Amino acid sequence: MRPVNVIITEIIRETPTIITLRTDIEPDAAPGQFVMVWVRGLDEIPMALSHPGSITVQSVGKATEALSRLEVGDSIGIRGPFGNGFEVKEKGDREEKEGDGEEDGAGKGNKIMIIAGGVGGAPLLPLALQAHSRDLDVTTLIGARTADELLFEEHFLKCGAISIATDDGSKGHHGFITGAMELFNLAGFDQFYICGPELMMKSVLDILRAAGLEAMAQLSLHRYFKCGIGVCGACTIDPSGLRVCRDGPVLSGDLLIKSELGKYHRDATGKKIMF
Ligand SMILES: Cc1cc2nc3c(=O)[nH]c(=O)nc-3n(C[C@H](O)[C@H](O)[C@H](O)COP(=O)(O)OP(=O)(O)OC[C@H]3O[C@@H](n4cnc5c(N)ncnc54)[C@H](O)[C@@H]3O)c2cc1C
Ligand code: FES
Repeated sequence: MRPVNVIITEIIRETPTIITLRTDIEPDAAPGQFVMVWVRGLDEIPMALSHPGSITVQSVGKATEALSRLEVGDSIGIRGPFGNGFEVKEKGDREEKEGDGEEDGAGKGNKIMIIAGGVGGAPLLPLALQAHSRDLDVTTLIGARTADELLFEEHFLKCGAISIATDDGSKGHHGFITGAMELFNLAGFDQFYICGPELMMKSVLDILRAAGLEAMAQLSLHRYFKCGIGVCGACTIDPSGLRVCRDGPVLSGDLLIKSELGKYHRDATGKKIMF
């Protein structure tokens, strides 16, 4: 697939390091799907869709810095949307499953917890909006280093309850987002949706596993993407060999708990980088 040229129509400053670029196209995408963004003359990088036709970018290196310097009227290339998305279970699932005699609580889909660390909130906002519009009970835990780096706080608040954790204690729980999880009865939730720094996701998944809830977790994983469509093999994870770009980026907690998650990832050459 060749990139489609899109024009930047609006730039929103979300935090000191994160901006949202709105564009003149709105691809039909499920929450959690991503696009490959061609930054002319530099690189092509994966980005989640944070709203229809929008990407939310944290400046960490040459391509994201170049995206952060764009102005309204500039253009980028977009391929996609690609990958799978988060599975949002309908409210009616509870009655149907109870009717089927399913009593273990898994997969009812009425009450969901979203756990968003840093720019990981980008693929989770469309999920929160969709779940809220389907009348699900949404609770979002938002974590960041400092209060001014909290992403989409007001947007998530419109979808349900929120709980905040900051590393420096400038807002909400003082410490990691895992500390904020302790304020909740996790067994009372039907699904958990998680995206953020990998070590954060591993800690969250360990807590869910200790509670026997890992199969109810969906995590959006980051790996080095080259093709973005399952051809080159750059993004495979051990030991399953699944391609994160095509089989993910959303993968289930019971699969990831037995994987390389939180241990290592690979760089552009395929070399293992330990966390
Ligand atoms: C499915 C997916 C969705 C993403 N969504 C977002 C998002 O919504 N917002 C956001 O700010 N970031 C997102 N990222 C991360 C983003 O792709 C990287 O931060 C970006 O590629 C960094 O490029 P750079 O040139 O600025 O930095 P570099 O200095 O080149 O790289 C910094 C780090 O970013 C990672 N990276 C670099 N190139 C790639 C690549 N081609 N594929 C994957 N990782 C790479 C590597 O870990 C590298 O160490 C997503 C990544 C994936 C896999
Ligand atoms: S990036 Fe090429 S197979 Fe996933």
